[in-house]
Amino acid sequence: MPQDRLDELIALLGPSRRGAYRIAQYAILAAGLAAMAVMTVPGVSPTVGTWTTVVLWCCLGFFAGELLVKSWPSDKSARNYLFTGAGFIDLLAVLPIPLALLIGVPKETAWLLASLWLLKLAPAVPGLALLGRVIEQEARPLASVFVLFLFVLMFAAVALFVLEHAGQPAHFGSLPQSLWWAVTTLTTTGYGDAVPETYLGRVVAAMVMICGLGVFGLLTGILATGFASEHRRRDFVRNWDLVTSVPFLSNLDAPAIIELTHMLRRLDLAERTVVVRRGRSGDCMYFIASGEVEVRVEPQPVRLGAGSFFGEFALLDGSPRTATVMTTMPSTLLILQVADFRAFTAHHPELARAVEKEAARRRGAPDYESHAGMQPAPQLLDDERDDD
Ligand code: CMP
Repeated sequence: MPQDRLDELIALLGPSRRGAYRIAQYAILAAGLAAMAVMTVPGVSPTVGTWTTVVLWCCLGFFAGELLVKSWPSDKSARNYLFTGAGFIDLLAVLPIPLALLIGVPKETAWLLASLWLLKLAPAVPGLALLGRVIEQEARPLASVFVLFLFVLMFAAVALFVLEHAGQPAHFGSLPQSLWWAVTTLTTTGYGDAVPETYLGRVVAAMVMICGLGVFGLLTGILATGFASEHRRRDFVRNWDLVTSVPFLSNLDAPAIIELTHMLRRLDLAERTVVVRRGRSGDCMYFIASGEVEVRVEPQPVRLGAGSFFGEFALLDGSPRTATVMTTMPSTLLILQVADFRAFTAHHPELARAVEKEAARRRGAPDYESHAGMQPAPQLLDDERDDD
C-alpha cells in the first residue's frame, strides 16, 4: 500500500507515536478549517487576520509535506501513489489553493478551497465504504423509491399549477414554481411561503405531505435494512474464517459450521486480560481462534493455544468456574453461550461428546502435552498470581 510509506516512517518513531500522529493530523485539519472560517468574518482585526493566514499556510505546508513523503519516487509503488484515490485526494488538498492565488483569485475566496481538506478524512472513515456497498446493493429498491418520488412530485406540481395559478400567480404562475412548492412540501421542509387556497388544492397538498412521509420512511427502511444485512454478511464471513481456523471445529460439516458461525461471538483481548475468574458462575465457553491463554490450576498452570477451548466445566454441569483463565498474548476468542451450546449439541451430539471427553481428561489430570495446542506453562512468580 502506498500509504505504508508514511506509516513506516511514523512506525520508526515507535508504535505509540502512530496514534499521536493521527491525532495531530486531525488537530491540524480542524485548526485549518477554523482559520478558514475566521477569515470570512468581516471586520476581524489585522492581527487575527495575519494569524489565520499563518495557520492556513502552516496547514497547507503540512499537507504538502505529507504528499511529498508519500509520493517520493524511490520505488514503483510510491510513484503510483498519485494515481490512487488517496493520492488524488492529497493532491486536491494541496494544489488548488496556490493555483487559485497564482491566477489572482482574492485571498479570502482562494482559501475557501481549504474545505477540500475535509476529503482527507474520507479514506479513514470505514462507514463511507460501507455506505457505498449498501447503495450499490440496494440500487434497485432505491431507484424505485426515487421514481415514486418523481411521480408524486410531478403529479403534485401539475395539480397545484392547474388549481392555483389563476388565484396565486406569484407562487403557482408556472410549472417550475409549482415544482419548487412540491419539492419543499414533499420533503416536509414546507416554508409556508406558498400555500394552496382552493379546497381541492389543500386536499392535494395533504396527500403530498403524507406521500412525503411515506417516501422518506421507505428510504430509511431500505438503507437501514441494507446496513444491517451488510453488517451481518461481513460478520458472517469474518466468523466463518475464525471458526474454520479452530481445528476442533473445522472437522464439522458445512451446515454445522454455518449454524455455529451465527452463534459464536468474537472477542478480541489484549495480553494479560482475565477472561474467567475462579469461583464465578459461567454461562459460556470459549474457543481460542488465535493467541494463547493460561489456566491457573495447581500444581502447575496450563497453557492452551489456538484451536483449544476452555470454560466447558461450567457449561456442562453448571458449577462455578474452576480456575482463573488469562490471556498471555493478544488473543481472539469465540464465545458460545450455554443456550446456543445446548441447541447446537442437540443436533450435533459429536461436539458435545468431544467437549465432554476433553473435560473428563482435564478433570482426571491427564497428560496435557498430548493435546494439540496445550502445553504446561512455566511456573508463575508469586507476584504475578491473580487467583482472587
Ligand atoms: P470452567 O471451570 O468453566 O472455567 C475455567 C476453565 O479452565 C475450565 O472450565 C476448563 O475449561 C479450564 N480448566 C480447568 N482445569 C483445567 C486443566 N487442568 N487443564 C486445562 N484446562 C482446565
